[in-house]
Amino acid sequence: MTEMNRQVLFRREPRGLPVVDDFEIVETPMPEPGEGQFLIANQYLSLDPYMRMLMGGGWMFRGGAMTPGQVMVGRTLGTVIESRHPDYKPGDTVVGRVGWQTHVVSDGSDLDFKITPRDDVTATAYLGACGSNGATAWVGLKLVGGAKAGETVLVSAAAGSVGSAVGQIAKTMDCRAIGIAGGPEKCRIVTEEFGFDACCDYKRDDLKAQLAAVAGDGIDVYFDNVGAEMLDMVMPMLNRRARVPVCGVLSQYNAEGERYGVKNTRLLFDKSLRLEGFLLADFQDSWDQARADLENLVGEDRLRYRETIAEGLDNAPEAFIGMLQGRNIGKQLVQLA
Ligand SMILES: NC(=O)c1ccc[n+]([C@@H]2O[C@H](COP(=O)([O-])OP(=O)(O)OC[C@H]3O[C@@H](n4cnc5c(N)ncnc54)[C@H](OP(=O)(O)O)[C@@H]3O)[C@@H](O)[C@H]2O)c1
Repeated sequence: MTEMNRQVLFRREPRGLPVVDDFEIVETPMPEPGEGQFLIANQYLSLDPYMRMLMGGGWMFRGGAMTPGQVMVGRTLGTVIESRHPDYKPGDTVVGRVGWQTHVVSDGSDLDFKITPRDDVTATAYLGACGSNGATAWVGLKLVGGAKAGETVLVSAAAGSVGSAVGQIAKTMDCRAIGIAGGPEKCRIVTEEFGFDACCDYKRDDLKAQLAAVAGDGIDVYFDNVGAEMLDMVMPMLNRRARVPVCGVLSQYNAEGERYGVKNTRLLFDKSLRLEGFLLADFQDSWDQARADLENLVGEDRLRYRETIAEGLDNAPEAFIGMLQGRNIGKQLVQLA
């Protein structure tokens, strides 16, 4: 039997939290590489919250929503299995923006990088701590947030892929790291495994008191992954001239109707605060430096990560929905082969 390519397509805009019927799984003929191209067999798919914004909701991010019938946008870790390209040979491991599918033909323009294998870094780390998630943490904390030794860094979604890296990188910079995460088990992992100084559980109804207890001296950098009410709650606790790298707005991706508007804007002036949204894509010049630093930190066991791995492309939609609900700890991946 001829092997087919399996793909997950974007079917329709979800209403609120996506459901599996918003996706469609199809089989297509195996693509064949032309001159200057190569065929990749994908092993792992990375699931990321930004994909929800590409499913509709009026976001301007990356030029707006996908078109129904389009292969779901996403990064994969794969192996070159056939090549007619001088720079890629069978056996090369690559990370690329090639979508939710088992196989793809590439000319290299949609790849992030080719992996140079290291004994001390596992390949899947290149979709998380040593890939775009780690680089987002690195760029957001160092370049946008301007964190300095001795400062207090707070990060939301702290048990997730980006958030867990933010706190650990902050510790390597001699900062104090405080996390916010959902539930006691995630908070335990954030402090015991990831080495944060403290973690507050936002699923309890006393988040403000928890934050006041551990960040009484104020916060210098709030790495914001969540936005909305949580940002409003944190703003009065920020020190004068604090920085808020706005990395994402997790609380709003599935929101329907009018989205939450931040209210505490008078504090921007009153405390000379700086809120700055950023996209990793705008910092391409720093990707190599970030990856080299992150690889060394992982190799030295100073940057730890967790992975939640779903099995098989057919389970990708369910895993994606679960990740948006917080069922993942650390990087959400799908193993394809
Ligand atoms: N700016 C960029 O270039 C860039 C690049 C990559 C990622 N990001 C952003 O970085 C953030 C984290 O992404 P990630 O890939 O590392 O995902 P992640 O944190 O591994 O997974 C998502 C997590 O979000 C939390 N969450 C979901 N709904 C929430 C809500 N309403 N309030 C608070 N927390 C909620 C859940 O954890 P709990 O169980 O703790 O709720 C869930 O595990 C996202 O905002 C993403 O869009 C930005």
